[in-house]
Parts: sequence; structure tokens; C-alpha cells
Amino acid sequence: MASLDRSDPVIMGHILAQHRELHEQLMSVRAALGVQEPPDRPAILAARTALRGLSDHLHRHFLQEERGGYLEESITRMPRLSPAVKVVLAEHPVLLAELDRLIETVAAADISPLAWQQAGRDFECFADHLTAHERNENAVVQDGYNEDLGLD
Ligand SMILES: [Fe+2]
Ligand SMILES: [Fe+2]
Repeated sequence: MASLDRSDPVIMGHILAQHRELHEQLMSVRAALGVQEPPDRPAILAARTALRGLSDHLHRHFLQEERGGYLEESITRMPRLSPAVKVVLAEHPVLLAELDRLIETVAAADISPLAWQQAGRDFECFADHLTAHERNENAVVQDGYNEDLGLD
């Protein structure tokens, strides 16, 4: 009877909570990059701090996902998910590199109004990529943990 409930809400809850935190950090960066042009020094510093905060958070989050075991567990429970998990994990370094490039631009001592505008657009691109990544990841874990229900 107990084995009927194998969707493991604790694990899903943990992932979803982390993804919500990431979403909040994305909003902070968006707000910081959305200030008037050309930005003054405090605005640039605020954007830089928000971007670095997001980067630190993302490094920790990805590391947890890579070592945390739930993606592997999804494969164990549902072997056909293996290619999808590989795709999701391969996106981590790509996303981090995209964010690093953005930080480098905003960290430049004399960012021009044009480069500031471009940074805002590049950030929206990055946010789209990250959101799509997390959506795919949620789907993989959900599949791995929920579809197991019918197999016992
Ligand atoms: Fe991820
Ligand atoms: Fe994630």
C-alpha cells in the first residue's frame, strides 16, 4: 500500500523551491539592469552584485543537481530518460559560461550606454535559456519519479 505513493514529494519540493529561489534572483538582476541609461556608478555596482549573486547561486544549484542524485535516480527508475538527463546536465556549463560573459561586460570599468542596453537584452536571452532548462529538468524528474508508479 505504502509503495503506491512513489512520487517523492520531498525531492520534487526541494527542486521546485530551489527553482523558485533562482527565479527571485533573476528578478533582482532584471531590476538592477533595468535602471536608467546611462547608468551611474551605484547602478552598475548593484547590477554587478546581483549578477554575481545569481552566478554563485547557480554554481551551487548545479553542483547539487550533479551530485544530489535525483537526476541519476530518475534514470535508475526510468532508463529511457538517460538521454534527456544528459542533455540537461550538458547545459550547465553552457549556462554558466553565458552568465560569465554577461558579468564580464557589466564588470567593465566604463560600460557605455549601448553596452548597458545590450547587457539587458543578453540577460533576457540568458533568463529564457535558464527557464527552459529548469522546465526540462522538472519534467525529467517528474517523469522519473511519477511514471515509476505503474511499474511495481
Ligand atoms: Fe540544472
Ligand atoms: Fe535546476
